[in-house]
Amino acid sequence: RIVYCAGQFVQEDQAHVSLFDRGFLFGDGVYEVTAVIGGRLIDNDLHLARFKRSLGELAIPMPASLEQIELLQQDLITKNGLTEGTVYLQATRGQADRDFLYPDGMQTTLVGFTQAKQLLGTKAQEEGIAVALAPDPRWARRDIKTVMLLGQVMAKRDARAAGFGDVWLTQEDHITEGASSTAYIVTGDNRILTRGNSRMILPGCTRQALLRLCDRHGLTFEERSFTQAEAESAVEAFQTSASSLVTPVIRIGDVVIGDGKPGPLTRLLQSYYLEAAG
Ligand code: PDD
Repeated sequence: RIVYCAGQFVQEDQAHVSLFDRGFLFGDGVYEVTAVIGGRLIDNDLHLARFKRSLGELAIPMPASLEQIELLQQDLITKNGLTEGTVYLQATRGQADRDFLYPDGMQTTLVGFTQAKQLLGTKAQEEGIAVALAPDPRWARRDIKTVMLLGQVMAKRDARAAGFGDVWLTQEDHITEGASSTAYIVTGDNRILTRGNSRMILPGCTRQALLRLCDRHGLTFEERSFTQAEAESAVEAFQTSASSLVTPVIRIGDVVIGDGKPGPLTRLLQSYYLEAAG
């Protein structure tokens, strides 16, 4: 694989980042994952806007213009002949001797790579998944897409060990979001519910694209937080992310959702999303 590492395209085994990079020592950095379908970047304007915002919130200087970054993503796709998968971007504050406080004038480290993988028609999208519920272990600025992902790593590991396909996180009886996705339920009166954006969750790009599609197709959605009990009594549930697109959720913890099969509104949203992406 050819990767981008701090200014150059190199073979992955030739890519090196300093031991003193603050991404490594402090998790002091942010990332983005953009889906690639048919060789094209999906919702990438939204991902680049969020990348810029995340960097801004941490006062990490932009390593290049958004136009240059998109060219870099496209170069990665071309150089690796990627048709389906993801492009990963990461920017960290750069390298300095270890100290919580960082010096002025640091140079942002920008890296990127592709991951070839099936995004369309996965078993999870076709059949749906069961999600575990677990207390949200994360910090109070989940709106920033930082590389500090240990909470998610642990929650996903525990969910996998318990036989679940993924995990939704809870706080004070409410669902915050999936460990790496946005969570939605459909109520008995066919309203699509997903939590409003705030510092409590990552503002999903797929979420933003999907809510636009709901508007366009006249589907009713409500941006508000919902409880675990509401989720358990939902008629449908699903989650979205760049790497899983629209994935039905057919069981939450021990509770089967609807008739245990992907619901009709979820199917409709899957088809609207794929139509817009294609
Ligand atoms: N994760 N919430 C969290 C905590 C996430 O990590 C993600 C994405 C999302 C969905 O965002 P989007 O629709 O923009 O992908 C929500 C990516 C895919 C990842 O970490 O691999």
